[in-house]
Amino acid sequence: VNGKIVIPVVVNVLYKTSAENISLAQIQSQIDVLNADFNATNIEYNSVPSVFSGVKADIDISFVLDAVVRKSTKKSSWRTDDSMKKSNKGGINPTSPTTKLNLWVCNLSGGILGYAQFPGGPSATDGVVIDNNAMGTTGSASAPFNLGRTATHEIGHWLNLRHIWGDASCGSDLVSDTPTHNTANYGCPSFPHYSTCSGSPIEMTMNYMDYTNDSCMYMFSNGQKSRMLALFSSGGARNSFAQ
Ligand code: ARG
Ligand code: ZN
Ligand code: CA
Repeated sequence: VNGKIVIPVVVNVLYKTSAENISLAQIQSQIDVLNADFNATNIEYNSVPSVFSGVKADIDISFVLDAVVRKSTKKSSWRTDDSMKKSNKGGINPTSPTTKLNLWVCNLSGGILGYAQFPGGPSATDGVVIDNNAMGTTGSASAPFNLGRTATHEIGHWLNLRHIWGDASCGSDLVSDTPTHNTANYGCPSFPHYSTCSGSPIEMTMNYMDYTNDSCMYMFSNGQKSRMLALFSSGGARNSFAQ
């Protein structure tokens, strides 16, 4: 990696209702959250408990809004089957997916807040999908998922991060400086929340890769940072995004 990593973001908006046709202000509010969260300038960063102050990380990746593509649709909701990414399924094809992060905003069915494609997948479906009610901090953004952390979490996946509980009971996220969690945490756990996994560590419930409310997730770790930045080096799966 030579310079600082700056990721152009193309936001693809699919709407049936006017509320789903989110404003540019709502889109920009999401970009602002990403820049804060990936540069450790989010207001909660100083509230990371001292047990984790040695591992909390400034990822040092920035995001810039590149384009907004809008399309009206007759579909009232979308499933996690990538049809929103395909014009022949009523969606919007990605723009330059090997050099720009494509983000689709639509009404996802079943209360799903978002989903992402991990690095190494087909470029035709690369990017992240965010429910219109979990996008940004204004407009249709709805509490407790109205601080833009769904996109922070999904871009974590897009940059190769696993859920902090490893999607298994006391599973591994392949990151050594995050504690082993029993399972996903929801809501806003009180601190300290002890794991009953080996060693009974205090869980890092404020990590973006847990499942807590937006206001209760506010850090990545150094190990997560290494995993993300490795993608941009020569031979890495997201090297095409490096300057
Ligand atoms: N359920 C989604 C996923 O696993 C996103 C969860 C986001 N959580 C949040 N507090 N915004 O990718
Ligand atoms: Zn996730
Ligand atoms: Ca771990």
